[in-house]
Amino acid sequence: MKKRVVSGMRPSGKLHIGHYHGTLKNWIALQNEYECFYFVADWHALTTRYDDVETLQSDIENMVIDWLASGLDPEKCVIYRQSKIPEIAELNLYMSMITPISWLERCPTYKEQLQELNSKDIATHGFLGYPVLQTADIAICHGELIPIGEDQLPHLELGREVIRRFNYLYNNLFPEPRPLLAPVKRLLGTDGRKMSKSYHNAINLSDSPEEIKARVRTMITDPERIKLTDKGHPEICLVFGLHKIYSENELADIETKCKNALRGCMECKDLLSSHINESLVDFRKKRKQLENDPEIVNKILEGGASKVRQIAGDALEKVKKNINIE
Ligand code: TRP
Ligand code: SF4
Repeated sequence: MKKRVVSGMRPSGKLHIGHYHGTLKNWIALQNEYECFYFVADWHALTTRYDDVETLQSDIENMVIDWLASGLDPEKCVIYRQSKIPEIAELNLYMSMITPISWLERCPTYKEQLQELNSKDIATHGFLGYPVLQTADIAICHGELIPIGEDQLPHLELGREVIRRFNYLYNNLFPEPRPLLAPVKRLLGTDGRKMSKSYHNAINLSDSPEEIKARVRTMITDPERIKLTDKGHPEICLVFGLHKIYSENELADIETKCKNALRGCMECKDLLSSHINESLVDFRKKRKQLENDPEIVNKILEGGASKVRQIAGDALEKVKKNINIE
């Protein structure tokens, strides 16, 4: 029997190449090996953007279109929206009964986020309970392997403890999920900070070839390389960082040309954008098809939700039986 993989992504709208290399590419590879459940964590999005919901629907659509155009295949994996599975919310309720507040307050991501988003009031019940909801996401489909980034490890560790306690109290209902850490590549944005929509430094998968060319031209290079005749230091250049991903076959040549001042930065950047654009040819075709036929996306999400609701219904029935709420 194939092991079950479960993972979710908060709907952040159009995805950038950092999402692709950090998460999506791994999801796509896993769908051939495991029984995969991938969902839009729209309830989780509300924990931090409860007051910013205007574009939530279109953010969800755009993200799912990017998933599909990148190669997530509804024939091979189950794709759905968390909010279409009310059983998750009910399991979250039962799990919240047995989760000590101290476990949640101790979670390092909780403390960090509170500080990071200090302009916003996220000292809410919902945000504190974020990891419990995440545990319900996983348990409701009997998730065994969870592909996540390292930053998410504390949530999963907490989730394992919640599941252990739940199993102890209510007769071993769920497997203990294990993390599946991908060889994560954290991409930097055009300004050298982490690539992120909110920093406006991202290259989106859905950007046009012209937009990508223009964005790459704004990237920070070796600051000591001012004139064409200055020798460059590729290891500190953001452009070279992306060449490592997009120009594997030519990497040695790009490095030598930079180090010996044989190519200008502009030309080096244009070479990079042409490689990024080549890698997106299929993606663009598929994205256009999906944009022209939004019904396909709805059908896929509905199909996914109906599969999950069956599994989730069975799981919840057992939970309620063991809690003596029937
Ligand atoms: N917290 C995850 C993130 O921000 C998203 C998420 C929600 C998730 N539920 C999950 C990931 C369940 C894995 C499993 O990336
Ligand atoms: Fe960066 Fe390329 Fe310029 Fe070298 S030539 S500094 S790698 S942009």
